[in-house]
Amino acid sequence: SKITVSLIKADVGGLPGHVTVADEHIEKAQENLSIAKDSGLIIDFRVFRAGDDLELVMTHKKGVDSEEIHKLAWDTFEKATEIAKELKLYGAGQDLLSDAFSGNVRGMGPGVAEMEFTERGAEPVIAFMMDKTEPGAFNLPIFRMFADPFNTAGLVIDPNLHNGFVFEIWDIYEHKRVLMNSPEEMYDILALIGAKSRFVIKRVFPKEGGKLPADEPVAVISTEKLYQIAGEYVGKDDPVALVRAQSGLPAVGEVLEPFAFPHLVSGWMRGSHNGPLMPVPFHYSKCTRFDGPPRVIAAGFQLANGRLVGPVDLFDDPAYDYTRQKAVEIAEYMRRHGPFEPHRLPMEDMEYTTLPKVMDRLKDRFESIE
Ligand code: F6R
Ligand code: MG
Ligand code: MG
Repeated sequence: SKITVSLIKADVGGLPGHVTVADEHIEKAQENLSIAKDSGLIIDFRVFRAGDDLELVMTHKKGVDSEEIHKLAWDTFEKATEIAKELKLYGAGQDLLSDAFSGNVRGMGPGVAEMEFTERGAEPVIAFMMDKTEPGAFNLPIFRMFADPFNTAGLVIDPNLHNGFVFEIWDIYEHKRVLMNSPEEMYDILALIGAKSRFVIKRVFPKEGGKLPADEPVAVISTEKLYQIAGEYVGKDDPVALVRAQSGLPAVGEVLEPFAFPHLVSGWMRGSHNGPLMPVPFHYSKCTRFDGPPRVIAAGFQLANGRLVGPVDLFDDPAYDYTRQKAVEIAEYMRRHGPFEPHRLPMEDMEYTTLPKVMDRLKDRFESIE
């Protein structure tokens, strides 16, 4: 029977400011999920902090979008919010945009990446958790894992990967989706996902006729856009992803390889700046310099009938020291631009920040030019 892995996250208060998640939050979440595990609702769980986001990894047999599982996550975030209020943490309950749970956390503030699949004989799963950036930050690394032969050697030399993959891409402005085949439609895929604030990869599927069922995803990314729910800027949607690896899929090292390049993502200070994405070990999952730079952690597991064996802190490795050093250099270079684009985001992307309020005040100062 199938297993579901759900990664549900929310920022329910930071310590200090938007830097990281308090230990009290981690403990409360662990306590609440332990009860759910004892009751048999979930098979297993792990709790993480990605910057100021509280991250719940849960395994169960309830499928995706399960009301019970989403309610468990919501209740956990609400309990953490109570603590945040008590401790006067910063932005208590920030991502809980609704007062009451109504069946599903999607559209209510928390970010969700979940997939249901048939657990293989050995099932490596990697949970990626980012802070101070947006869902489109996953476009480049996910594309490279599943479509770029310069990243993933298996696409060239393993017959099980050679046919490529299917990408489900969402237009998050128009609320539409499209399925595209790689490598056949690679240039069209890139035409879309290069515009990462609008087109985001939601899922990746194997192709028909391969080793794995074509209707079971092999990667999934959270694509919630908070400002579309709240109508104004309330954090940068700090995305998460789940990626399965090995035996007909990219190897763990091929899944991690794209993160060796600290590509520019939008987010960072006030959700308004471009900066490098820095892969860090769990203990560096706190955003400091200019509320950043944007960061990603990776937790590696093997599944054993839904039991989570791990995590392994995958970026806790000197193999990523060069990347981190490069990210720091890029951060320095970008910072020197101060309020100038392209460090600061272009006007269109600033629409939901506080900038329009400043612009409004200047409106009357303008006169026509002859
Ligand atoms: C970015 C982020 C922070 C805040 C910044 C200002 O996603 O959360 O950079 O935008 O610290 O926060 P406020 O306006 O709450 O003082
Ligand atoms: Mg925050
Ligand atoms: Mg955050």
